[in-house]
Amino acid sequence: MKALILSGGAGTRLRPITHTSAKQLVPVANKPVLFYGLEAIAETGIIEVGIVVGDTAKEIMEAVGDGSRFGIKVTYIPQESPLGLAHAVLIARDFLGDEDFVMYLGDNFIVGGITGPVDRFRAERPDAGILLTKVSDPGSFGVAELDIDGRVVGLEEKPEFPRSELALVGVYLFTPVVHEAVRAIEPSGRGELEITDALQWLIDRGRDVRSTVISGYWKDTGKVSDLLEVNRTVLETVEPLVEGVVDDTSVIIGRVRIEAGARVSGSRIVGPAIIGANTVIRDAYIGPFTALSEGCRIEDSEIEYSIVLRGSSVTGVRRVEASLIGRDVEVTPAPRNPAAHRLVLGDHSRVQISS
Ligand code: TTP
Repeated sequence: MKALILSGGAGTRLRPITHTSAKQLVPVANKPVLFYGLEAIAETGIIEVGIVVGDTAKEIMEAVGDGSRFGIKVTYIPQESPLGLAHAVLIARDFLGDEDFVMYLGDNFIVGGITGPVDRFRAERPDAGILLTKVSDPGSFGVAELDIDGRVVGLEEKPEFPRSELALVGVYLFTPVVHEAVRAIEPSGRGELEITDALQWLIDRGRDVRSTVISGYWKDTGKVSDLLEVNRTVLETVEPLVEGVVDDTSVIIGRVRIEAGARVSGSRIVGPAIIGANTVIRDAYIGPFTALSEGCRIEDSEIEYSIVLRGSSVTGVRRVEASLIGRDVEVTPAPRNPAAHRLVLGDHSRVQISS
């Protein structure tokens, strides 16, 4: 069995972060989201992994390399533009050959891994398998309708009137019969070859498409709010460790990881939180569910429930929360006089200012 990980895409919902970097490499508890997926695949015993890459190919290739670090062997498959999940299968035909495979969306996060569903698929070998999870707002997802035996009888993308509360999780299991389906379907209204259409094509031809409902935690990290939630969940499991230097005037409470070369002075850190290597915290408050990457500086400021990427600084700002801050960003207070905001913001930025 092989694996196909999708790490191309446009990442419009995470702009402006995705203007300059891949969303699959945004860190959760200071480790790229994609790495959690690669680890989950390695755990199943699969070795041959194809990674579909788009505009951010170079960055993904630099981060993952040949995969040996994860115990897998990676082949990169360039996708010229994000023409859909089924399109990714179409272009991966040569890599996949005639083997069964698991398709994993590179920005998805699943607690508990995928070994259970993969083993079950290997044992039962239906034509295709999907993972489902109960959600409160099925209208925002791909939704499955099941018969009493758990066979999938219908799939709908973001339905207005959902037939169940079971949403598709970003992991799919396929036998080679899917290749016929992805060749047969037409692009959807949004111009993409949809994997739900390929699955529906199989169902309509009487193929056996089965589902596993997972109870473990699942999130698509394509949105800032979901990313912060995943970060919160993972930080709750971080092992406390102080490798950096904390001075006597600082207080560290709860589950806090301070990496090598970090320096904390005159500050209060309330976990769960992670402070990256060589990050400097001075006269600051770092609140729960915060992940600061390496080489950051937080000074005379308060921050919580946020992710800050490498090389960024927050100085003299009273309160930052529920924020995703990119790389090499500087956040500073606006001058009091004249009372105006001076902004240099990338396209599609979202800024909230109280004034
Ligand atoms: P999506 O989150 O569905 O799409 P997107 O990355 O274009 O993001 P947005 O909706 O914010 O614009 O993609 C799921 C995963 O699949 C993600 O890791 C990107 C990847 N992908 C591809 O590799 N090729 C594709 O053609 C598409 C649509 C997605």
